Amino acid sequence: MLDNLGSMERTHSCGALRSEDVGKQVVLMGWVARRRDFGPLTFIDLRDRDGITQVVFNEETAAEAHARAKEVRGEYVIAVTGDVVLRAEGQRNPKITTGDVEVSAREILILNDARTPPFQLELTSSDALASEDTRLKYRYLDLRRPQLQANLRLRHRTVAEIRRYMDEQGFTEIETPILIKSTPEGARDYIVPSRIQPGKFYALPQSPQLFKQLCMIAGLDKYYQIARCFRDEDLRADRQPEFTQLDVELSFASTEIVYRLVEGLFKRVFKLVGADLETPFPRLTFAEAMRRYGSDKPDLRFGMELKDLSGELEGTTFAPFASTLESRGEIKGIVVQGGAKLSRKALDELQEFAKRYGAGALAWIKLGDELSSSLLKALGQETIERLARAAGAVSGDAVLIIAGRAKIVAASLGALRLEVARREKLIPENVYRPLWVTEFPMFEFHEEDGRYYAMHHPFTSPLDEDLPLFRRAVEENETRLLGDLRAKAYDAVVNGVEAAGGSIRIHQREVQNLVFKAIGLTPEMARERFGFFLDALEYGTPPHGGIAAGIERLLMSMTGIENIRDLMAFPKTASAADLMIDAPGEVDPRQLEELRLKIVKE
Ligand code: AMO
Repeated sequence: MLDNLGSMERTHSCGALRSEDVGKQVVLMGWVARRRDFGPLTFIDLRDRDGITQVVFNEETAAEAHARAKEVRGEYVIAVTGDVVLRAEGQRNPKITTGDVEVSAREILILNDARTPPFQLELTSSDALASEDTRLKYRYLDLRRPQLQANLRLRHRTVAEIRRYMDEQGFTEIETPILIKSTPEGARDYIVPSRIQPGKFYALPQSPQLFKQLCMIAGLDKYYQIARCFRDEDLRADRQPEFTQLDVELSFASTEIVYRLVEGLFKRVFKLVGADLETPFPRLTFAEAMRRYGSDKPDLRFGMELKDLSGELEGTTFAPFASTLESRGEIKGIVVQGGAKLSRKALDELQEFAKRYGAGALAWIKLGDELSSSLLKALGQETIERLARAAGAVSGDAVLIIAGRAKIVAASLGALRLEVARREKLIPENVYRPLWVTEFPMFEFHEEDGRYYAMHHPFTSPLDEDLPLFRRAVEENETRLLGDLRAKAYDAVVNGVEAAGGSIRIHQREVQNLVFKAIGLTPEMARERFGFFLDALEYGTPPHGGIAAGIERLLMSMTGIENIRDLMAFPKTASAADLMIDAPGEVDPRQLEELRLKIVKE
């Protein structure tokens, strides 16, 4: 038989009681984390969002409650009335906040029973975790775990702090629609069929980009929104199809104004995890970040920079290197401190790892007691010693070398740098290294379809000094120049996580036309897609710019948590499914009919 709560109210949470509370009569409510029976004594660990309190039922002093307590099992919901008592000296538990005391129960109400959970909620170590699919299916149970609850509370406090800060800075929170037309952020759109206008579709926003720019044209001046974004793209550990941005736009903005705003914000928000960020953040241009770290989101918590070794190898007859140099590729290396002890197996693994990023091979030099190298036969001892010296290696180190096209060398060696640092534990903990990556390229060339795409989005302004070159590239059809153009686009990166990205926008119609032309949009196509926006641009658009910070990414950089799913309440799987509600799902044939849609079975 289950009890009713009646008018009973709890006096404390399960994480609240301390030795100062000894002698109080309290009412606690929560879930049974564990029950242990020792003859006349039964112990229950009672859990709520705040913590765990040990409750003891004594057959001698509270026979009825003791008998009832024996009925409860894991995850039953109970209410307990009792007295706070000090635990005996040897029985205190310093691991929990309430560990000095326990509640000696007088009365217990069993408010609900529970089936045995499909996985253990109380974890001793993270490797005891059930499979992620099971946990996602029973997300409401997984969320009972204190770690996930703590993450969600931190998320709440972060968003609350963001709202406070943006309000102090004079920004207005404005909601923009979810049912819109496609906005281009480079991913596919989720589309929603219209019933009232059959055959027509809304798109869900990949971001509120055009709306926030329209807010600037409207004279709203300083806009922000905690905005849900939807992107149908391939998922990774740091990507979800549905995520949240702090989205910001301001009028008469320069990059410096955006940097100061965001630095102030990050400084405030990172205080929530006890970090004191130094401002202003250092800056690296995109070109320099790629050259030194092989990444546009470099993790600056450790060194291991990429060193160019081409100079040392000029005139080499070793075919792979010679052909790389001839085709104007790159030969670069990283130094692994203490890497001389890397085993052959470890090096083979790293080689496989590098290949995933397109590298043809991974060459290595080990400066152990004896010099050893995969290049010994090909290059000879002298050249290898010179290479190691040029890379900056000293005795006991290893050098890992990759040759090939610049893009592949950057991608593979950049990834290798992170992988090695992780494996060899070279990344210091509790260190925060924010930076701005600036001057992103305007366009990037996609080989699949042989054309240029806007690297950030097509509303991003080129650097003022690159505008003449831009005009030439478009007007004289010298498309290969497009790859050299730099944008007023920037990312805020913390510990290797791209926490925010934005740009100064184009506010003049003529420049906007150049961009559309550069990415292969005819005036008709541009008008069809963005006519409303192009019209608006002609009604007095102020210079403006902005940025968006992924809330989950920001939290990843604050906490070091690498799985984005641990930072949202109801995430989706890698195949964009919600296993709990079983979405996406099929719809009723009548619904399809109403929408005039037909499913074509292959
Ligand atoms: P961008 O596409 O760079 O810019 O996105 C801004 C920030 O949003 C986060 N982010 C994501 N987080 C989780 N899952 C995803 N799939 C995902 N995609 C992006 C990242 C990223 O830095 N409208 C522009 C912003 C602007 O120009 O103002 C935009 O959306 O933290």
